[in-house]
Amino acid sequence: MTARRILVTSALPYANGHIHLGHLVEYIQTDIWVRFQKLRGNRCIYICADDTHGTAIMIRARQEGRSEEALIADMRESHLGDFAAFGVEFDNYGSTNSEHNRRLCHQIWSKLRDADLIAEKDVTQLYDPKAETFLADRFVKGTCPKCQASDQYGDNCDKCGATYTPADLINPVSALSGATPELRTAKHLFVQIEKLHDWLNEWTQSGQHLQDEVANYLKGHFLCDPLRDWDVSRPAPYFGFEIPDSPGNYWYVWFDAPIGYIGSTAEWCEKHGETLDDWWACGPEAESRGAEIHHFIGKDITYFHTLFWPAMLKKADFRQPDRVHIHGFLTVDGEKMSKTKGTFIQAATYAKHLEPAYLRYYYASKLGARLDDLDLNLEEFATKVNSDLVGKVVNLASRTARFVEAVGLSSVYPDDGGMFAEAAAQAETIAAAYDGCDYNGAMRLIMGLADRANRYVDEKAPWTLRKDPAKASEVQDVCSVTLNLFRQIVVYLAPVLPKLVQQTERLLQQPIQNWNDSQTPLVGTGVAKFEHLMQRVELAQVQAMIEDGIQAAPETTPVAAAALNQWNDGPEALAAEPLVAEHCTIDDFVKVDLRVARVVAANEVVGADKLLQLTLSLGGEGTRNVFAGIKSAYKPEDLVGRLVILCANLAPRKMKFGISEGMVLAAGAGGKEIFLLNPDTGAKPGHRVH
Ligand code: 2FM
Ligand code: ZN
Repeated sequence: MTARRILVTSALPYANGHIHLGHLVEYIQTDIWVRFQKLRGNRCIYICADDTHGTAIMIRARQEGRSEEALIADMRESHLGDFAAFGVEFDNYGSTNSEHNRRLCHQIWSKLRDADLIAEKDVTQLYDPKAETFLADRFVKGTCPKCQASDQYGDNCDKCGATYTPADLINPVSALSGATPELRTAKHLFVQIEKLHDWLNEWTQSGQHLQDEVANYLKGHFLCDPLRDWDVSRPAPYFGFEIPDSPGNYWYVWFDAPIGYIGSTAEWCEKHGETLDDWWACGPEAESRGAEIHHFIGKDITYFHTLFWPAMLKKADFRQPDRVHIHGFLTVDGEKMSKTKGTFIQAATYAKHLEPAYLRYYYASKLGARLDDLDLNLEEFATKVNSDLVGKVVNLASRTARFVEAVGLSSVYPDDGGMFAEAAAQAETIAAAYDGCDYNGAMRLIMGLADRANRYVDEKAPWTLRKDPAKASEVQDVCSVTLNLFRQIVVYLAPVLPKLVQQTERLLQQPIQNWNDSQTPLVGTGVAKFEHLMQRVELAQVQAMIEDGIQAAPETTPVAAAALNQWNDGPEALAAEPLVAEHCTIDDFVKVDLRVARVVAANEVVGADKLLQLTLSLGGEGTRNVFAGIKSAYKPEDLVGRLVILCANLAPRKMKFGISEGMVLAAGAGGKEIFLLNPDTGAKPGHRVH
C-alpha cells in the first residue's frame, strides 16, 4: 500500500476566547484522525492557527487598553497551553495575522478580481458616532420591533425568536459606547458566488466530499435558489488586512480566516523545506503528488466551508478540499453548555480536576461519522472511564506486570488459543472505522478485545498460580499473553490515548510506532517496574470541576493578568478588605434587587455630619427617600442629575431623620474615599443590575 499524503485542519479558534470542552470535541476528533494516519505510515500534517481578526477583537483590545497584537499574543499562549494539555499536537499552529496570510489574501483576491467575481455595492449599516465604528449586529441592543422586549441584540430577539436587522430595533443603543447609532452608508465589496453555482452543485453533490446529510442540506437550503453575493469587506476601523485596491476597506474576518489554513501551511513548508504546491496545488500535476486535504469543522460553519471556501479555492487555482468532515455540537447532561450551571467548562478548568486522557477516550467512544450532537453525560463519563479504561484496559497490565518484572516475557510466544492472532486480524476493520471517523465503532471493537483478554486472565488467575513455585513458567506464559494482548489493545487505542502509549513503551520496553505493532507479539523482552497507569474517576472530582466552572469568571488569566499589569494597580485596596466573604449562590444574589436610579434632589441633613438626603427616581411614578453616608465625599449639588445604583429592596429603615427606603452603592474606604457606582452611558433609571 502506498503511503497517502494528507493535510488536515481543524477550524481556527477565535483569539478572543479560551478553549472550552465544546471546542475540544473537534480538536480531539481531528487529533485522533491525524495520529491514526501517522500510525498507519501515511504522511500527514495537522495545520491550524488562531483566527485573530474582526470587530470583537478590536473592541476587546480597546476595552483592555492594549493593542490587538498584544491581546492575540497572550491568547495564543493560552490556546497552545490548553491544546498541549489535551495532547492535541499540531504540525504547525500559525496566526491569520501573519505576513504569509496577508500575501495569500492578496494573491487570492487578485485571482477573484481577474475572474470578475467582485462587485461593489452600498451597504447601509448602523454606525456608532462615539466609538467611530460601524456596528456588527451583536453590538447593537434595543427593543424588539415584534414583541417589544427590551435589551435585545441587533439580529434576533431572545424572547420571541424574531429575526431582523439592527436598524429595525426600537431605540437602538450601541453596546460599545451607549451612543444612539445612526444609519450610514458605505461601499462594500462582494463575491458573486452565484457565478459558480453549477460548479458548486457538482462539487457538493458528487458524494465524495461531504457527508450525505450535509450535501442534502446544502441542496435543500442554498443550492435550490440563486446564491447571494457574499459581503467580504468592512470599512475602517477594523482589525484585519486592508484591501489593496480599496483603501479604507478591510477584508471581513471570514475572508482571511480559511486562507489561514494555507498561510499556516506556508509557514510549515518554510520550516521543512517544502513548497505550498506540494500540498495545495491543483490540476493533474497536483494529482500526481497525491496530496489530500481534509477539513474538520462544526456544523455551524458549514456554509463557509462547503460553498465559499471551495469556490474561492477553485477560482484562485488552489486544491479544493477532498473531504470536509462535519461534527455536531456538545451538550452537557443533555443541555446546552451553561455558565450559570457550571457546564460551560473551559479546557483549563477541566484539566485542573481531571485527566485529559479520560475526555479523549469519552469523546472517542461517542463520536460517529454523522453530525449528531455529542452529549457529555457526566455520570456516564465517570462510569465509562472507570469500567473501560481502568477496569478493562489498564487492569490487564496492573494484574500481571508485577509477576514478570524479574523474568520478562517468555522467549517463545505461548499458546493463547488463537487470541492474539484473532485480534490482529481485526486490525483492518478497526482501521477502517478510524479512517471513516467512526470512532465509536472502533472503541466498541477494541473493548470487545479487552473483554476477551480479561476473561482469559480471570480464568488463568496468575495470582493463584504463582503461589505454587512449580508453576513459575506457567505464570510467565499467562502474563506474557496478557501483556501482549494489553499492548495490542494499546496500539489500537494509540490515536486516542498517546499518554498510555508512552507508559506502555516504558513498561514493556519497546516502542510503539506503527499500526503493525499490533501484528506481532513481543517475546523475550524485559518488563519494567510497574507504575500506576490510570486512576479511577471519582464523582467528587467531576463535581468539583462543575463548581469551579460556576465560580470561574469566564475570561481570567493569563490574558487578564497581562492586561492588568499595565495599570500599575497596587494591592492596597484589596488588602484593606480581603476577599473573605463566604460564597453566595446565584439564588442569594438575585434576592438583592439592584436598580439604576437618578438623583433628582440631594440635601444636607440638619444635625447629621455624615448623611446626605437623596431623592431618587426609578423612572416611573414616585421617588425614593434614601439617607446615604456620603457627605464626607460629595457635595449635594454635584449629585443632582447623576445616575447611581440603588439596592431597591432593602427593608425600609426608620432613622432619626426619617425613613430610608434603600441604599446607594459605593466603593472605597470611607472619608474622602467614597466612590459612588454609576452605570455606563445608556443605562436608564429602572434598569435592573444583574
Ligand atoms: O467559528 C469559528 O470559531 C471560526 N473562528 C472558525 C474559522 S475556521 C476557518 F475558516 F478559518
Ligand atoms: Zn421579540
